[in-house]
Amino acid sequence: MFEPYLLPEVPVTSVTEWIAIGGGKGLARALDIGPVATIDQVVASGLRGRGGAGFPVGLKWRSLRETAAGGTSFVVCNASEGEPGTFKDRTLLRRNAYQLIEGVAIATFAIGADSAFIGLKAKYTEEHENLGRALAEMEAAGLTAGIPITIVPGPDSYLFGEETALLQAIQGEPAAPRLFPPYIQGVFASTPNIDWSAMPRATGDPQLSDPAPTLVNNVESLSTAAHVMAKGADWFRSMGTEATPGHGICTIVGDTVKAGVAEIEMGTPLGEIIDRLGGGMPEGRRIKAILSGISNPVMTEEFLDVPLCFDAFRARGSGIGSCGFIVYDDTTDAVEIGYTCSHWLSVESCGQCNGCKVGTMGVTALLKKIMVGEGEYRDIADIGARIMKLTDANRCFLPEQDQIVVSSLLRTFPQDFLDAVDGKPVNIRDVMPPKLVDIADGKMILDEHWRLKQENWAYSDIGTATGVYRTE
Ligand SMILES: Cc1cc2nc3c(=O)[nH]c(=O)nc-3n(C[C@H](O)[C@H](O)[C@H](O)COP(=O)(O)O)c2cc1C
Ligand code: SF4
Repeated sequence: MFEPYLLPEVPVTSVTEWIAIGGGKGLARALDIGPVATIDQVVASGLRGRGGAGFPVGLKWRSLRETAAGGTSFVVCNASEGEPGTFKDRTLLRRNAYQLIEGVAIATFAIGADSAFIGLKAKYTEEHENLGRALAEMEAAGLTAGIPITIVPGPDSYLFGEETALLQAIQGEPAAPRLFPPYIQGVFASTPNIDWSAMPRATGDPQLSDPAPTLVNNVESLSTAAHVMAKGADWFRSMGTEATPGHGICTIVGDTVKAGVAEIEMGTPLGEIIDRLGGGMPEGRRIKAILSGISNPVMTEEFLDVPLCFDAFRARGSGIGSCGFIVYDDTTDAVEIGYTCSHWLSVESCGQCNGCKVGTMGVTALLKKIMVGEGEYRDIADIGARIMKLTDANRCFLPEQDQIVVSSLLRTFPQDFLDAVDGKPVNIRDVMPPKLVDIADGKMILDEHWRLKQENWAYSDIGTATGVYRTE
């Protein structure tokens, strides 16, 4: 029988309530068996990171412990939640922030780190309130193992969720990605990290010799780890699939009857999740395309039978990402989906790498030209050529996302692009990236203010004359 453990029906609002439903047991067990056996448990559970890439959590902990080897090290929890179509971490923090604090304490103890930080967007005020209260109560109850944990408010940018940019923000710098990953160059590393002088290890200068390797894990990953430690690896493996055990929190938004977010057993077919959380499609409408965030190749109705599992989705040519699914109906044109995604990425790109900023803007401009009926055949070829170069000297994964999403749309819906350049008007629906403010009463509430964000990160209201949410 399905028993939710991450999202209790009634929100947990005090440490007493958390203890009453088993809170504290995961940390107690970790302290009892010691750091190495704790890591072994998490490895044995098969828990995979819920931030998008699905990297095994236990293996990450093990390699961090080995890399740090008694030196300075930190844990950072990624609570940025900026992926379009995803509302899981905020739901977790609203329903039970205590389990996250426990997971953070367990991870910090396991890898032998000095302290931990939780990066949470400043604008997520309800979540800040919950998390702050949970932290204070858990500390007072002795349920953080004396580990210093700091909640750091961050900017409302997509890149705040990119792990190296998150470290920058925690240091009080702008949230722009670094050259080296957190396990090589962590938060408060004494080596230079952002410009041409960046280096992972210093040469002889003791002032510049501390790389401070840092573990970065998502909110759901760490919250789940608390349950794995309390109930054991076998319990966790009794749910989900072999490759992706346990439960996950899914979000469904877009053209479905309603929007929804809920805890789901891994292995549940995508179609069932869309029906349960989204209420299926409105009468007379069919699914045309599904995106998992803006990070994986587009999916069609053929994916509805695929079980929610990192490997199963990968085997069919896409990915589950952070389990936030954006559903487009059959009135949507693939050219507009491409424009919307590429525009989102070009705006959010920080501009440190030319190939990314200039390239995503170029691809977006071509997609828009085609979308508004001014495209030519060579523009399609030009998009193909340009997306190959987006990742030239890229620091982070963002331009790869444009490559992945746009090329998959061209492959899956070539006719939409050909029709558009042949003069058939694109049905522009003015869809925007589902940057979610909330999901309430079955409705997604989008951040309409984002429409005004320009590529230079200024907010401006220059025209929406064509019905497209941004014009030059
Ligand atoms: C542009 C960009 C945005 C990201 N946003 C988030 C985010 O909001 N939350 C998150 O947990 N991971 C995000 N990630 C992934 C993180 O870099 C990192 O892989 C993740 O936090 C690791 O956690 P996990 O191993 O527990 O999955 C983002 C990555 C990129 C490239
Ligand atoms: S790849 Fe793009 S988003 Fe990432 S650091 Fe470079 S310019 Fe910024």
